[in-house]
Amino acid sequence: MTTALLELDRVDACYGAAHVLHRLSLSVLPGERVALIGRNGVGKTTVVNTVLGLAALRGGRVRIGRREPARPRPYMAANEGVAVVPQGRCIVANLTVEENLLLGSAVRRKGPWQLDSVYALFPILRERAHTPGTALSGGQQQMLAIGRALMANPALILLDEPTEGLAPVIVDQLADILNRVADQGTALLLIEQNLSLVMRVARRYYALAKGAVVADGEVAHESLDALQRHVMV
Ligand SMILES: Nc1ncnc2c1ncn2[C@@H]1O[C@H](COP(=O)(O)OP(=O)(O)OP(=O)(O)O)[C@@H](O)[C@H]1O
Ligand SMILES: [Mg+2]
Repeated sequence: MTTALLELDRVDACYGAAHVLHRLSLSVLPGERVALIGRNGVGKTTVVNTVLGLAALRGGRVRIGRREPARPRPYMAANEGVAVVPQGRCIVANLTVEENLLLGSAVRRKGPWQLDSVYALFPILRERAHTPGTALSGGQQQMLAIGRALMANPALILLDEPTEGLAPVIVDQLADILNRVADQGTALLLIEQNLSLVMRVARRYYALAKGAVVADGEVAHESLDALQRHVMV
């Protein structure tokens, strides 16, 4: 059996007394394109936070690459080839575009991604290399956040709502980019409420409600309406 790059097995997770994830199980195998969908506040970001150790693991198991830590810590994901594109992008304001990209190479594995290949994927980032990262438009900042994640040559990227606040034309570009990244063999866990992106990029999905998985399967086997029910407010 292929070993998952990331596996949560009946995970319970909390912020202090707030119990957010309930016996949540999911996995991502090498090269897979998996979506995690669900309404606002169901616990999508908490899945990422649990992997990073920013939410407390209270039950179940988390496997990150080759490790199965009782208490995950932020550096473990990076060391195991799991990169994160955080919700809200987290571009560092005082650094240029290029410096933001170089931050991503602090924990670097062997692979195709370095400044030149990231700039080839995102020509606009080369043009704007020496401007402050936060001077970019929202869509360009999202590309910078993805480029920064790629600089580590990760086996898996967790993307937390990359299309939030972006115009439809930028969402189309993002779909192409994510497919190109996945075609190079990088696995994706795409946290999204934008089902147009999910349907164009993901093969498998998990739907969350109230911190638990309520549906999962192949994206191609579901109608848009069936998926829509999991994200409608
Ligand atoms: N640091 C925190 N401390 C306490 N509760 C939190 C914290 N962060 C999130 N929560 C709560 O945990 C629940 C899940 O939040 P989470 O951010 O994981 O949802 P989400 O699915 O990512 O939502 P969105 O789509 O709005 O980003 C919510 O009820 C939220 O209020
Ligand atoms: Mg979130």
